[in-house]
Amino acid sequence: MTPATAELVRPDRYPRSAGYDPAWVLGLDMGPHPLWQLEDLLADVELQPGARVLDLGCGKGATSVFLARELDVEVVAFDLWVEADELHATLEEAGVADRVSAVNGDARDLPFADDEFDAVVSIDAFEYLGTDVRFLPGLLRVVRPGGAVGMTTPALRTDPYESDPPGYVTDVVGWETAGWHAPQWWARHWELTGLVDGVVARLQDGGRDDWVRWCRALGDGPDAPVRRMLEADTAEELGFAVVSARKR
Ligand SMILES: C[S@@+](CC[C@H](N)C(=O)[O-])C[C@H]1O[C@@H](n2cnc3c(N)ncnc32)[C@H](O)[C@@H]1O
Repeated sequence: MTPATAELVRPDRYPRSAGYDPAWVLGLDMGPHPLWQLEDLLADVELQPGARVLDLGCGKGATSVFLARELDVEVVAFDLWVEADELHATLEEAGVADRVSAVNGDARDLPFADDEFDAVVSIDAFEYLGTDVRFLPGLLRVVRPGGAVGMTTPALRTDPYESDPPGYVTDVVGWETAGWHAPQWWARHWELTGLVDGVVARLQDGGRDDWVRWCRALGDGPDAPVRRMLEADTAEELGFAVVSARKR
């Protein structure tokens, strides 16, 4: 294991994630350490064993494996870009295919029944979807009343609609920076729907540092500009918004 990969095992900060081979998590890379983001989110979202959970925008499935193994919940691993067959192979290899099913589709047109899920979790996908005022109400349709919705998404401490984002961010992220909202923006966006209670929105502690570690472990591949952007961010403007609520 390289020293940079070894930096991805942090039992003091992320005890549950530390039980997963970092090479396995890196091999499923579609964005910064998904298990760390999920483990942090779970401080705000309670999932009972046996609950039916939608892992929205699950990518290559690391978070779905974690949910099934760590929380003993039943998971639907749902994604647009990653084929269900590929996802299923990962789930089978991880020994959770009996509790996790892979489904392809578009989160804006969910192929599920009303009130079907006890909870939805989503790691690093809301930036593609969640800024549309129609999105959260559409998602809540498939959550039972009282059920939880929790997500993490790349964020700026100061909202991009409040003041110009740093140049070192826009140079790399371009127009997509407009979707990297501050946690307080997400809280207001969700509260304005009138459809949720108990909104909690915060910037993840040490999120920028976590993200740098992930990029360093990936090495000098296509993510190198992102690593340089994060290293330039000494003011820690960047990180992840961790947002959760319950359906009214
Ligand atoms: C940055 S990746 C993160 C994947 C995974 N959650 C992780 O953290 O490794 C974003 C994911 O969102 C999914 N996604 C984007 N738009 C979507 C949509 N309209 N419906 C469902 N999934 C979508 C993509 O397929 C992709 O896997």
